[in-house]
Amino acid sequence: MIRRTVMRLASVHKAFFLPNLLVSLVLSLSTTSACAQAAREYEPRVGQAGKDVVWVPTPDELVEKMLNLANVTASDFVIDLGSGDGRTVIVAAKRGARAHGIEYNPEMVELSKHNAANEGVGERATFAKEDLFQSDFSKATVITMFLLPQINLKLKPKILDLKPGTRIVSNSFTMGEWKEDDSASTNDDCTGWCTALLWIVPAKVEGIWQLAQGELTLKQSYQFISGSLKSGNAVTPIANGRLKGEQILFNAGGVLYVGQVSGNGIQGTLSSGGTWSATRVGK
Ligand SMILES: C[S@@+](CC[C@H](N)C(=O)[O-])C[C@H]1O[C@@H](n2cnc3c(N)ncnc32)[C@H](O)[C@@H]1O
Repeated sequence: MIRRTVMRLASVHKAFFLPNLLVSLVLSLSTTSACAQAAREYEPRVGQAGKDVVWVPTPDELVEKMLNLANVTASDFVIDLGSGDGRTVIVAAKRGARAHGIEYNPEMVELSKHNAANEGVGERATFAKEDLFQSDFSKATVITMFLLPQINLKLKPKILDLKPGTRIVSNSFTMGEWKEDDSASTNDDCTGWCTALLWIVPAKVEGIWQLAQGELTLKQSYQFISGSLKSGNAVTPIANGRLKGEQILFNAGGVLYVGQVSGNGIQGTLSSGGTWSATRVGK
């Protein structure tokens, strides 16, 4: 009896659900191919409106310069903020990196997916229709952008809170008082959008640190540090203080201190020989 009911249900299932399944499969395939067709036919115009910035593509040569300046390798996760037609994400993915584009214009997002698939990097290059101001880009090891100076300034506090060592590379536009760590330009006859600027998110080191050599007081302005090393009554100013992500360098009393910052600790070496370590004891 139970067996007969199950058999009947199975045949109803086959008769009713199988055709429905086929219909929805055909519908979803035709929707996908309609999207692919739309992406193929969509032709963005240089200067077309965007939510906060118009679309202007970064020249291919500068895309390469930007990724070279940030030293992008297969171990990176690159996020392009305002990714346009996906070109920077695609080139990063071709270098073996995982790469992701955040773009507000849904047609540009579809075009980017189509372009990435065409270039054979559809797996490693992903795109999301999102507002860059609402998006989480904290997992990136490299951030690329071609936005506007005032947008860079608005993003700056969030960028400075990223993991120390995260590289930020911008097409042409600066970051206000936060001077770039490095820059590179395309060839001499380049007439527009020729310069890549690189920042490395510095560790936060401002405060008082206890060392075997004395008490180190550090003031920080982005990647630059100043301060003094106090040992007994002797106060030695530090010179050439610098941060490169989590790496710290400064001179005190003719000795070069190089170290690696990890939260409230530093481990390093001295140019005079030997090692040094420090613990943060105050703000
Ligand atoms: C100057 S284009 C740069 C495109 C691409 N990054 C490149 O270098 O070729 C800026 C892009 O940001 C997008 N955009 C503008 N405001 C945005 C926002 N709030 N969130 C995400 N994307 C945005 C625009 O649609 C445009 O595609």
